[in-house]
Amino acid sequence: MSTNIFKNVLLIGGTGDTGKHILSALLADPVFNVTVLSRHNSTAKFPSNAQVIKVDYSDKNALTKALTGQDVVISAVGGEGIDTNFGITLVEASIDAGVKWLIPSEFGGDYDDPFIDNIPVLASKPAIGKLLKENQSRIAHTFISPGIFLDWSFDNGFTGFDIANHTVTIYDEGKRRQSGTTLPNIAKAVVAILHHPEIALNKRIFIANTTFSQQETLDYFEKETGIKWTVKHASSIETIKNAAEQLAQGKVMDAFVNYIRSAIYGDNKMFLFEGRTNNKELGIPEIPLERIIKEAVQRQKISQ
Ligand SMILES: NC(=O)c1ccc[n+]([C@@H]2O[C@H](COP(=O)([O-])OP(=O)(O)OC[C@H]3O[C@@H](n4cnc5c(N)ncnc54)[C@H](OP(=O)(O)O)[C@@H]3O)[C@@H](O)[C@H]2O)c1
Repeated sequence: MSTNIFKNVLLIGGTGDTGKHILSALLADPVFNVTVLSRHNSTAKFPSNAQVIKVDYSDKNALTKALTGQDVVISAVGGEGIDTNFGITLVEASIDAGVKWLIPSEFGGDYDDPFIDNIPVLASKPAIGKLLKENQSRIAHTFISPGIFLDWSFDNGFTGFDIANHTVTIYDEGKRRQSGTTLPNIAKAVVAILHHPEIALNKRIFIANTTFSQQETLDYFEKETGIKWTVKHASSIETIKNAAEQLAQGKVMDAFVNYIRSAIYGDNKMFLFEGRTNNKELGIPEIPLERIIKEAVQRQKISQ
């Protein structure tokens, strides 16, 4: 393990879907002094051993004060927190506070890929990334790309697989490949990155437990559930057009889902990390897709 100069770590969004895994991995590591930052009006419940600061994020001075003394700030905010406004304010406040290293709330695909320009609902990510790159002499950054959240997306159907109803929407031929990681492995990678700043400072880090196609996923789901699934078909190009219309009509959530699926399943490599992961340096294992699907089906049965 490397000698670590980054000990004081502040996590934002520490009870969210991603943040709660990162928080428990950080709290389990004695190297780090961990603080969680939460919105002043948040009703989130924190583990009893977490040190929590609550701040009104619209008060930039208060935000800067809360960040002062921290070596690393990790943002795992979600919802409207990923909007450009909060992300930009966080970069500025972190610089003013003398934070050394900021990991913004990316946690998706390769947002340096030009295809991102087709996905307006993700526009905040490259905008915040650009600001961080412009200021890398003042604050270091790391962008973390875990691809699709595998466990999370199979549990909620976000990527088109509906386990409860045995239905799936297959985009185009269903043969394009995508990479993904489970939430505990994302948390493991975050902690490993903090231990190895030499591989992560001012870089994009890719991790993936597995890379697979929609058709392979469907085959494993059918095998595991013992049922022939109902397959709907969609074109990734039409889906992106529909997303644009939905966004124009103010149907933001529908647009969001369709844009993300177009990014994952369309003709681009934003979510394909084969041959470029940092798995080895960070100790992230390859996990057979079949095992991830088996576990997703078991969770679904328990939740019924
Ligand atoms: N690749 C994938 O498949 C995938 C899937 C899902 C999410 N993601 C990404 O992962 C990151 C985290 O997402 P998540 O789903 O884990 O987040 P989430 O659970 O929706 O929210 C995380 C936390 O953000 C804080 N928050 C909520 N609204 C906020 C606001 N308006 N302003 C500031 N903070 C706010 C809350 O913390 P407090 O209550 O403590 O303030 C909340 O617990 C995002 O960047 C998201 O885009 C990627």
